[in-house]
Amino acid sequence: MNHKSINLHPVETASRDELSALQLERMRGSLKNAYDNVPHYRKAFEENGVHPDDLINLSDLAKFPFTVKNDLRANYPFGMFAVPREKLARIHASSGTTGQPTVVGYTINDVEMWAEVMARSIWAAGGRPGDIVHVAYGYGLFTGGLGAHYGAEKLGCTVIPVSGGMTERQVLLIQDFKPDIMMVTPSYLLAVADEFEEQGLDSRKCSLRIGMFGAEPWTNSMRKEIEEKFNLDAVDLYGLSEIIGPGVSGECFREKDGLYVWEDHFYPEIINPETGEVLPDGEQGELVFTSLTKEAFPIIRYRTRDLTRLLAGGNRTMRKMEKITGRSDDMMIIRGVNVFPTQVEEIILTDDRLSPNFQLELTREDRLDEMTVLVETRAVDVPEKTQNEIADNLRQQIKNRIGVTTRINLLAAGGVERSMGKAKRIVDKRTQ
Ligand code: DLL
Repeated sequence: MNHKSINLHPVETASRDELSALQLERMRGSLKNAYDNVPHYRKAFEENGVHPDDLINLSDLAKFPFTVKNDLRANYPFGMFAVPREKLARIHASSGTTGQPTVVGYTINDVEMWAEVMARSIWAAGGRPGDIVHVAYGYGLFTGGLGAHYGAEKLGCTVIPVSGGMTERQVLLIQDFKPDIMMVTPSYLLAVADEFEEQGLDSRKCSLRIGMFGAEPWTNSMRKEIEEKFNLDAVDLYGLSEIIGPGVSGECFREKDGLYVWEDHFYPEIINPETGEVLPDGEQGELVFTSLTKEAFPIIRYRTRDLTRLLAGGNRTMRKMEKITGRSDDMMIIRGVNVFPTQVEEIILTDDRLSPNFQLELTREDRLDEMTVLVETRAVDVPEKTQNEIADNLRQQIKNRIGVTTRINLLAAGGVERSMGKAKRIVDKRTQ
């Protein structure tokens, strides 16, 4: 097998100095592209008294202002583009919670670069030319489906563009087309697993060798659960439309301990979310990205709201980011205690009697916030006594390990709403 590093893109194993020199040169170009061609950046740089020429070292990036989601909203739909509309090959948009989508654009070169970083991510995941790739990320304005698709084609794989939904058909196609790789949100994979069971099929015996999971936070406990259920290597894939889509970073199947950031195209920083101060590698904070090569939609110091830390590379030079803990928007503060859905996921998965499907419902009573964990038992007819014991145990574990008192609503298998794409973990029923 041709597994040697010789097959990596040379930049993946370049020295740190070579990589930094490339980043500096590209960062200058990207700042200039933003300043010269996007009125928002020109204004923001001027207000902060900085000019692209002020970038002498990579660390000078800290002098430049952040970009936030609201800046994109204020320039809806096409105001952040650095090229005339006719030069765009593609538009994508993420729906967001507030109605107005965030719009992003790509030149043909941007689409090509995206395919390249996505192909690299598939290689890192263990995918090889000739593999059959089943893409169950949604196709359309969402970047998941088309991003995965172009990358898989670029690597030389056979792509099956299934998109999300129609779960019975997902199972049929896996059984009949025998894909090697599946790309899907981890939560939707669980719905597919249920369907295997429903049809009396053993998911461990299916053809899948690799799963590339992302678009939502998931834990290492979930990795174990999925790997056992499907007998495959489960690797993490990260990205966001504002930066490119899927393929900003991806895990190596040999390491499975963090995602390589494709640093020759996306420059990462970790900041203290309260002060904006740049933190050293290894410290936990908010992930910020600057695009280094994008033409149509250069993005400077974009605050992702995702929380993680940067780690040294392993078998590649580039730095890794640790698995995302969650988004700062998803952090719930329950009676003063910070809670992320991933923390609850970890605990649920320690009990074999519970299924990994869950939701957290927030309510407010007498001005106090309450959190109810909606979770299912795996078995169908669980005696009431056992149910009480399971619920008590979960409540106790959450109290001990996170420090928050919760209610547990134990449902029968299938009782928690399934998602076709990104899971909805938090149901906020509080009235303001
Ligand atoms: O979710 C792109 C994507 C598609 C990534 C398919 C991976 C696979 P957006 O819809 O713009 O883009 O959402 C981006 O999703 O800021 C994170 O909060 C979250 N997210 C994406 N990947 C991961 C991951 C796509 N691997 C937002 N782990 C990001 C945790 C993730 N969160």
